[in-house]
Amino acid sequence: MKDAYGRNINYLRISITDLCNLRCRYCMPEEGICKVEHKDILSLEEIYQVAKTFVSLGVNKIRLTGGEPLTRKGIIELIQKIAGLEGVKDLAMTTNAVLLKKYARDLKAAGLQRLNISLDTLDEKKYAQITRGGKLKDVLDGIEEAKAVGLFPIKLNVVLIGGFNVDEIEDFVNLTKTEEIDVRFIELMPLGEASKWAEENFISNEIILNSVKELTKAENTDLSSPAIYYRLPNAKGRVGIINPISCKFCDYCNRVRLTSQGKLKLCLHSNEEIDIKDKLRKGEDIGKTILDAIKQKPESHYLENGQYINDNMYQIGG
Ligand code: GTP
Ligand code: 5AD
Ligand code: SF4
Repeated sequence: MKDAYGRNINYLRISITDLCNLRCRYCMPEEGICKVEHKDILSLEEIYQVAKTFVSLGVNKIRLTGGEPLTRKGIIELIQKIAGLEGVKDLAMTTNAVLLKKYARDLKAAGLQRLNISLDTLDEKKYAQITRGGKLKDVLDGIEEAKAVGLFPIKLNVVLIGGFNVDEIEDFVNLTKTEEIDVRFIELMPLGEASKWAEENFISNEIILNSVKELTKAENTDLSSPAIYYRLPNAKGRVGIINPISCKFCDYCNRVRLTSQGKLKLCLHSNEEIDIKDKLRKGEDIGKTILDAIKQKPESHYLENGQYINDNMYQIGG
């Protein structure tokens, strides 16, 4: 599927739930969010039908996100079905890993290939603070279990937050020395209710290369990846830098997103959504809707002009 700018769209990110078992300060309000009525979210069968249509149109990379995807009942069966679609080459999940210890084995057996794990600090107290009550040990146990069952490679997503985890950059980078894990630093993006908080706590990713001089450019076969990769001498894992703000990567964008309420988002930072759910429920041809929508994909985001979206990350899944 080519968009109007010649970009090949082969990557679908599916947010399977808005709900999350954490309350990260840059993402969720303290009280959590209102539960959407059951009928307003796509059933797992409907998600599968949409995924199947996308795959028939050329998508070969699928990522399940949330909220927290592991909080949705039936996730294992859904993965099993999507993994069985001919044409799916890369099936991954972005998770906070709190429930991973329990699910890792079943995820692997169902056909999930790899994981990106959100972890912004290696300090127990700070973890509880940024997630409003999460336990770091759950995440670390989850990572160990994922490694043990062969859910590889693992990428850690570290959102860089001014005054919070800048002092941990070296500790995170040093993890890559001995662990076959890629650590990726992400610039805090202003969106939804936490826009102001994100602006106040933003810190440019430039600080990474300035503070760890031994990093040199590393191999990366995936040009559409938002990360630029570096490596410490002889390190097992890579250090990725994701700069949506200071160095945008929209020219190579290959992705669209499906929300848990069955809306297609053509750009993470666009307010525009295209309904898929109602069309699916009316038995209309969603393949045509998808192809038409892809042609409307915006060229890039305009965060630099202060054009922020109203949606929150828990609704889009990153
Ligand atoms: P890989 O396939 O492992 O490279 O995963 P990914 O980077 O596509 O997925 P992940 O869920 O780990 O996303 C990491 C972060 O990259 C997201 O939270 C966003 O901050 C950023 N990101 C991903 N896609 C986009 C995008 O289309 N636009 C912008 N601005 N940021 C994005
Ligand atoms: N800016 C940047 N990254 C964010 N994430 C969540 N909210 C933001 C934000 N405002 C990250 C999560 C997760 C990924 C999918 O998105 O930490 O790793
Ligand atoms: Fe949950 Fe992820 Fe949002 Fe944290 S960033 S509250 S883990 S959805």
